[in-house]
Amino acid sequence: MKNLDDLSFDDFDEAINPRPEECDFDRIMDAALSRRDLFKGVIAFGGVAAFGNTLMSSPATAAPNRFAFDAIGINTEDTLNVPPGYNSQVVVRWGDPLWSDAPEFDHATRGTGASQAKAMGDNNDGMEVYAHGDKTVLIANNEYCNRSIIWGNREEGKADGADDYLKGMNAHGLTAVELVENDGEWSIVKDSPYNRRFTPDVAMEITGPAAGHDLMKTNADPEGKVVLGTFNNCGNGSTPWGTYLACEENFNGYFATEDQEHEVSAEMKRYGVTPKGRGYGWDQIDDRFDVVKDPNEANRHGYVTEVNALDPNSTPKKRTALGRFKHENAEVVVNGDGHIVVYMGDDERGEFLYRFVSNGVYAPGGETDSLLEDGKLYVAKFSDDATGQWLELTPESTGMASMAEVCIHTRIAASAVGATTMDRPEWVSANPKAAEVYCCLTNNKNRGVKTNAGGDETPVGGPNPREANKYGQIVRWRPTDADHTSDTFAWDLYVLAGNPSVHAEGLEGGSDNVNEGNMFNSPDGLKFDSNGLLWIQTDGNYSNEKDFAGQGNNQMLAGDPATGEIRRFLTGPKQCEITGLTWSPDKRTMFVGVQHPGERGEGNWPDGGDSAPRSAIVAVRRDDGGLVG
Ligand code: FEO
Ligand code: CA
Ligand code: CA
Ligand code: CA
Repeated sequence: MKNLDDLSFDDFDEAINPRPEECDFDRIMDAALSRRDLFKGVIAFGGVAAFGNTLMSSPATAAPNRFAFDAIGINTEDTLNVPPGYNSQVVVRWGDPLWSDAPEFDHATRGTGASQAKAMGDNNDGMEVYAHGDKTVLIANNEYCNRSIIWGNREEGKADGADDYLKGMNAHGLTAVELVENDGEWSIVKDSPYNRRFTPDVAMEITGPAAGHDLMKTNADPEGKVVLGTFNNCGNGSTPWGTYLACEENFNGYFATEDQEHEVSAEMKRYGVTPKGRGYGWDQIDDRFDVVKDPNEANRHGYVTEVNALDPNSTPKKRTALGRFKHENAEVVVNGDGHIVVYMGDDERGEFLYRFVSNGVYAPGGETDSLLEDGKLYVAKFSDDATGQWLELTPESTGMASMAEVCIHTRIAASAVGATTMDRPEWVSANPKAAEVYCCLTNNKNRGVKTNAGGDETPVGGPNPREANKYGQIVRWRPTDADHTSDTFAWDLYVLAGNPSVHAEGLEGGSDNVNEGNMFNSPDGLKFDSNGLLWIQTDGNYSNEKDFAGQGNNQMLAGDPATGEIRRFLTGPKQCEITGLTWSPDKRTMFVGVQHPGERGEGNWPDGGDSAPRSAIVAVRRDDGGLVG
């Protein structure tokens, strides 16, 4: 087995919790049937659109060509590139101090536990910008730390002692920081009252059905209502009442114990919590991360956390009503009748797509605290005939004892109702111009090959049409009657990524809106701008060879939802992922996240020379200062 530290999150999960290989007759039959269905027309732009007729007559199609830029080519250099007429600038990097009493980032030592607690965290991912009077406040997730880089001052990039573990821990969580613009250049405002780090040691309130349940009680919190910290937040969401939603993803790898033979419960296993940690070492410095000493602590992570970034004294709230799984992002929609609908993916091979519907309705200026605390949770079931339904998760439908249990063991609840296993649902985004929602299904090498972690089959078909899916696709759905609370929908595929120069024919070449000039793999970040243009960010294979030849470094593209046209807008430096997207209040700046540049030892972006590579947030503007979103 490879060193566990070097594996991707998904490969780590499988290494510690192997699942059986399956290739039975039923599955082969399923695959054959679904391929036939696929060609009946669920690829919108590769064949006959499933709901193409309605789409083509929607108002979103009325606009002429909405791309305000010329497509750019791929990049394999250690640079960030944008189209002619645009410029980019680094705004804030991992390790930049937020307060003037903290030291500047030290490339030799890469900081200490104390300096990291006062600096921008590592691996920025989902983010949002909020306007407060004339102030601009950015809040960003710091998903994880690049261990070999943050400990790059140590032999073989391994932690040496408790402060190294603490430095890694403090690089996690969230960062809020005030930004200011002068003559088109953005910078952070040191010592601003808005500046704040939410490290894994900051107290947060547990709300919703799981609050106070026995499974949430720990040594330090016998009431099960207050948890320290949020970590491994991937994508994000934002509410119409101005709060930020941070989404906890691969939380399992932080839990470990000395006894490698220790047997955890089946419920823990479903979430990938085992005695084998991923090498962060938090169990070495805090007993709550030891699965023997405090087994329930892991049940308190894997949620969506609501944060008011504009009130530096606010206490973040973990919203257990939105379920516990490896959350990617949380796309909030205000339905026509005022109900709040939140769409959420669970990013692991063969996991599910979820929807939350508030019981109350949103009214601007009204009470909003209960909206994400009190509601119904659903999981998606897709049919091969291009329709689907939302299945409600309740004690009755799942056989569980309470809603608390449904909200803590949500994956198991979803398996019980027969939800559709998906190709790793990443970001979800709703079109502001039409009642339709898109979700990146990034890739899934286990599709049609292995079950998910719960033993659910992963048949080839429906929105997951390729065995051992290596390129990914974007599925979209339209709720019946344009009502996001409706329990049924119609779906199709917006794009099937692929490589038409390597695979001249067949599904590996991608749908018809993929060509040699715009091809990419592993769509992940996804966000509509206010004009209804769909921005697609990739977290894929950047080898630029074999199946991925001609695709270069990770990138950001824009897609027209109406015509299916996709253009490449930005390319990132070596070994990075592009993730996280938001706009300045005046929409003249687009903030784009560059995560883990040089993650495998090649690249020194953004500082160059022999410097440590650093995740960073970049401001992209038009040279003429025009609108960018
Ligand atoms: Fe953190 Fe699913 O990406
Ligand atoms: Ca992601
Ligand atoms: Ca990803
Ligand atoms: Ca990532």
